[in-house]
Amino acid sequence: MSATLRRGWFAVWKIIGGVRLRIKVMGIALAMIALLGLGILGLVREVMTRVLTWELEQRGLSIAHDVAGRSTDLILTNNLYPLHELIRNTVLSNEDVRYAFLLDPHGRILADSFGGGFPLDLLAANVLPPGESHHVELLQTEEGIIQDIAVPIFESRAGIVRVGMSLRRLEATLAHTTRQILLATLLVSILGIVISTGLTWLVTRPILGLAEATARVAQGDLSHRLVPWADDEIGQLQNSFNAMVNSLAQSRQSMEIANARLARRNRELLALYGISRALSGPLGLSEALERALEHVIGMMRTTGGWICMLNDDGSCYICASMGEPSRADVGTACCRQCTACRQAALARKPIVVSPVPASCPVYTSQNDPTALHQGHVIVPILTKERVAGLLNLVCTEENCFEQEGMGLLAAVGRQLGLAFENVRLWEELRHKEAMRGQLLRKIITAQEEERRRIARELHDQTGQAITSLLVGLKVLEGAHSLEQARALASDMRNTLSQTLDEVRNLALELRPSALDDLGLVPALARYVGMLPARFGFQVDFVAAGMDDQRLPREVESTLYRIAQEALSNVARHARATHASVLLERREGVVVMLIEDNGVGFDAARVIDSARERDRLGLFGMMERASLVGGRLTIESRPGAGTTISVEVPLEST
Ligand SMILES: Nc1ncnc2c1ncn2[C@@H]1O[C@H](COP(=O)(O)OP(=O)(O)O)[C@@H](O)[C@H]1O
Ligand SMILES: [Mg+2]
Repeated sequence: MSATLRRGWFAVWKIIGGVRLRIKVMGIALAMIALLGLGILGLVREVMTRVLTWELEQRGLSIAHDVAGRSTDLILTNNLYPLHELIRNTVLSNEDVRYAFLLDPHGRILADSFGGGFPLDLLAANVLPPGESHHVELLQTEEGIIQDIAVPIFESRAGIVRVGMSLRRLEATLAHTTRQILLATLLVSILGIVISTGLTWLVTRPILGLAEATARVAQGDLSHRLVPWADDEIGQLQNSFNAMVNSLAQSRQSMEIANARLARRNRELLALYGISRALSGPLGLSEALERALEHVIGMMRTTGGWICMLNDDGSCYICASMGEPSRADVGTACCRQCTACRQAALARKPIVVSPVPASCPVYTSQNDPTALHQGHVIVPILTKERVAGLLNLVCTEENCFEQEGMGLLAAVGRQLGLAFENVRLWEELRHKEAMRGQLLRKIITAQEEERRRIARELHDQTGQAITSLLVGLKVLEGAHSLEQARALASDMRNTLSQTLDEVRNLALELRPSALDDLGLVPALARYVGMLPARFGFQVDFVAAGMDDQRLPREVESTLYRIAQEALSNVARHARATHASVLLERREGVVVMLIEDNGVGFDAARVIDSARERDRLGLFGMMERASLVGGRLTIESRPGAGTTISVEVPLEST
């Protein structure tokens, strides 16, 4: 049962629920007014009917009693005419009396107001029970309801008087009153509609406003706010709604900011990944930088940019450019001439220069940079030791480079520097490898050359000498006299001692036995001692802290060969008058300095071009030093002499 009720209620609510709020409120007001009107109408009709009927009955009774009193004597004297007159006057003088008649104790009609057409069934319609003072009966007639009143005359001994009171006037009064009430209800209803329309408009306005605002929020419009209409519950609801929309807008804003930040981070990460891929890939330096520049421009969303590399010798060149200004415009300009670029290089961090300085040498004279680009950032490309170049980015708006992006650009600058350094080291390694190969080939040819020379010397000099000795011996065998034999023996001894000297020199040149037998200091002392006579310049040799302790064999021969090469360079190239060799053993290292006061040379340039010119003496010295874990440096300037220093670590044993 309750389930059926619930279903029924749901069905009704579905219909009512679909009706607009204003109509709902108005409907309730109208229903209340109608209900009130009809209730009052019913109540009034009920009370009026009862009161008027009672009043009519009282009036009928008094008329009947009056007729009964006045007719008693006339009936007893059988005076019929005045009885008729009495009845007629009674009906005429009372508007509500429809009829009246008198009956004798036997129920016969003595007088009546019908004038001949007495309806006989009226006689039995109201019977007065014996002993009663009166009896009232309601009769339904064609003329409407009649209140029939029967009253005894002289205690029924003279008969009964009957009076018919018509309810027509009473009904007319009731109908009139009903009409009045209905009219009043109608007027109140109209007034009610007007008032309730106004009230519902007033009350539902903020609610409908709230509903509309909520719908806008649902569609994503968070700009709308409500004006609180009062300090009541609806006002509080509006305030709460505003607070809710505010916090929604705030969270949406922070979400948008977070999203934008995330997207930027993503872009930056992708760009950094792209840059590192470009830089670590198989591309050459300028191609890799070009590709990296493309990623940086994409990441910073700028119009264009270029990379300018700075050489050690003070020159510079544009090695990559993209977007505006175009490659053709960039030309051969150099960043070193630009004050802003120098500033960035000095600061070793990115600086924003807005707009591009009018004096920027990268732009050709046809293009005014200030008109083209308002935003400009210069990022130094840093290696460990120096600023290897400058990355320049430009864009058309003034404030396109935020402070936030500077850290990232600095990191990009370091990454580019690292790549540049890698390429440089790689190039250096390749150069060194090539030099080493060349050196090896040269050593092999030198060895062959040396062998040929020894073979030649052995053949031409030693062989000749031994042959002449053999010839001498043969002559000695056939000597005729002792004098002749003595003279021959003396010749042969001279030849032999000469040959011995030659063989010794040959052996000494191949490897000084002093180095193996006596050690580095005596061997060097002997070698240095030979030089003035051979080449004509003074050489000092100082050894400090060497004591009598020998150095490791390979260190000794390395230092000896380096000294040999350096001093032979002094002899061949320096045109020096004086040279010095200092050998010193310090804590854990042995140091050798070879100085001359000759013409000097540009060491860096000579070493760079050594391979092309097939001059491998200096490179060979460096290689020898590095083979024993040491380091060789050359300090020389044209006109300022040359100093070569070698430092070799000694293993502490
Ligand atoms: N002590 C020095 N004084 C002046 N010039 C030197 C000296 N040492 C080397 N040089 C210069 O360096 C060049 C390279 O020397 P090196 O590598 O030994 O080759 P090479 O001796 O076969 O010319 C020389 O040609 C010379 O010009
Ligand atoms: Mg040389």
